[in-house]
Amino acid sequence: MRINYCGKVNQTLLNSYVKLYGWVNKIRDHGGILFLDLRDMYGRTQLVIDSKKLDFTNFVLAKKLKSEYIIKVIGLIKLRPVKDGFTNKIDIFVIELNLLSKSIKLPFKLYAKKKIKEEIRFKFRYIDLRQKKYIKKILIRSQIIHKIRSFLDINKFIEIETPILSNITVEGARTFIIQSHKQTFALPQSPQIYKQILMCSGLDRYYQIAKCFRDEDLRSDRQPEFTQIDIETSFMNKQAIINVVEKMIKSLFKELLHFTFSSAFKIIKYTDAINKYGTDKPDLRVPIKITDIEDVIPQSLTCIFLNKLHKLTSQCNRIAAIKLKGGVCLSLKQIIKYISFVKLYGAKGLIWIKVYNINLGLNGLQSPILKHITDEVIHNLKKRLHLKNGDLVFCCADTINIVNTSLSVLITQIANDLKLYIKAWAPIWVVNFPLFKRDIVGTLTSYHHPFTAPTSTLDDIIYNPEKAFANSFDLIINGIELGGGSIRINDYKIQKIIFKLLGLTQRTLNNNFGFFLKAFKFGVPPHGGLALGLDRIVMLLTKSDNIRDVIAFPKTNKFICPLSV
Ligand code: AMO
Repeated sequence: MRINYCGKVNQTLLNSYVKLYGWVNKIRDHGGILFLDLRDMYGRTQLVIDSKKLDFTNFVLAKKLKSEYIIKVIGLIKLRPVKDGFTNKIDIFVIELNLLSKSIKLPFKLYAKKKIKEEIRFKFRYIDLRQKKYIKKILIRSQIIHKIRSFLDINKFIEIETPILSNITVEGARTFIIQSHKQTFALPQSPQIYKQILMCSGLDRYYQIAKCFRDEDLRSDRQPEFTQIDIETSFMNKQAIINVVEKMIKSLFKELLHFTFSSAFKIIKYTDAINKYGTDKPDLRVPIKITDIEDVIPQSLTCIFLNKLHKLTSQCNRIAAIKLKGGVCLSLKQIIKYISFVKLYGAKGLIWIKVYNINLGLNGLQSPILKHITDEVIHNLKKRLHLKNGDLVFCCADTINIVNTSLSVLITQIANDLKLYIKAWAPIWVVNFPLFKRDIVGTLTSYHHPFTAPTSTLDDIIYNPEKAFANSFDLIINGIELGGGSIRINDYKIQKIIFKLLGLTQRTLNNNFGFFLKAFKFGVPPHGGLALGLDRIVMLLTKSDNIRDVIAFPKTNKFICPLSV
């Protein structure tokens, strides 16, 4: 069996013989002696190939080696005489060498300083993955999966595989269709229905490292084929589910990053998250919140804010501001850049106020709207926003959605530009989402999926569905949605009402959910669960900006697989 790896041999094995397999990384030929870096998935080690220590045929072979040839060597481990900071301070003096495979010239240089195009990297992914930074991510991914499995096993969850060929899907993306010679199947967007059915069968602590498929536009944290850590339990309430998942996440951070979260993750209601951060994925590493200011501006002056923001009239239903400590140092050019930036998100502009000396009222400020406002307004803003000298205020007025989106992306952009992060990790549970939302054509759709249990009364759900709330919870870390889940409906009548409100005809209901609803008639335990995006967890734990870096064979952003195309 193979027991030694290039990246792992070290001084503990001094003066013993090792057998190593690997890729020729680099050769330095000094005539009668060759120095060769041998590389495997754990790292590199230096081989010394000395004509005096090796028989003639082997030495001739060594002279013919080229980068990326695959070899096997046997050698003696010796302490490196010089300190060069290179692999483990040892050399392997080769006594036997075998060539196992040759390679033609690589299509790109490994460890090149120049950025290699992703299409090229992925076309030759087997070469791309020879690079340490990418191998490392794949190795960590494997460790994460292993640790999650052992955590869930210890906590009495059982791993159950649900079908890949199914015929229903509920997560709202487009579905991949598979045609067999007998039946048309769909690839699962998630194992949602099957895991709930498992609860009906009494297998009440399920998990699965589940492959999911969604035909949707790709982004830096989205792939069409991705992996969920899918969990479902019966007889556990929301808090109990949150506790167990939080414990699992904390243990991953502890074991992989040696990072300890000192307290329980924060919990915030969806509506508060939207009001304070403009998004349901707040990044709490950034100490900037959105504050409403409409009520501290006299009615007579709101029109100034609105006019300044380009003649908004009835459309405006939120006037809000963010405060940037020390922001007075931002140049006008930078401010104009931010104003153009929010316009991409629908805002008509931003009003800005630089606070040089708050005690001087209007005289201590700089802003394009100074001549329109009064000391009273400044006094009110000072109180509301807790203004101090050096602050910069950005105000936005528009529809609620535009103000929220514009200010939340502005916060992220400013935080990136000015490195405003005050902590490394900021987890938060966002709970009690709306039960429904309207899609672009105005149709009522589920905010998460149709099985989410409501917290509102049946009357509210039926007569005021957009105001109804759900017993749901999302886990966000550093502004990234890691997972989402809920307590489920376990009442036949309510489940049917929800389907009806979603506009499902009796026929669709029977075709798609008939078997599921039938199970409800035989008793459904109270249950709930969630799914975490494994790829996103790996992204966070390996500090990767891109989901493609943590997947062995990803699709490009253009939705192609250059390797196999
Ligand atoms: P949801 O759709 O929120 O919930 O998905 C759960 C988590 O899966 C990850 N995720 C993705 N990761 C990469 N690429 C994608 N295209 C992608 N889509 C989703 C995210 C997300 O938070 N069945 C429910 C869960 C439940 O209610 O138990 C579901 O799938 O990290």
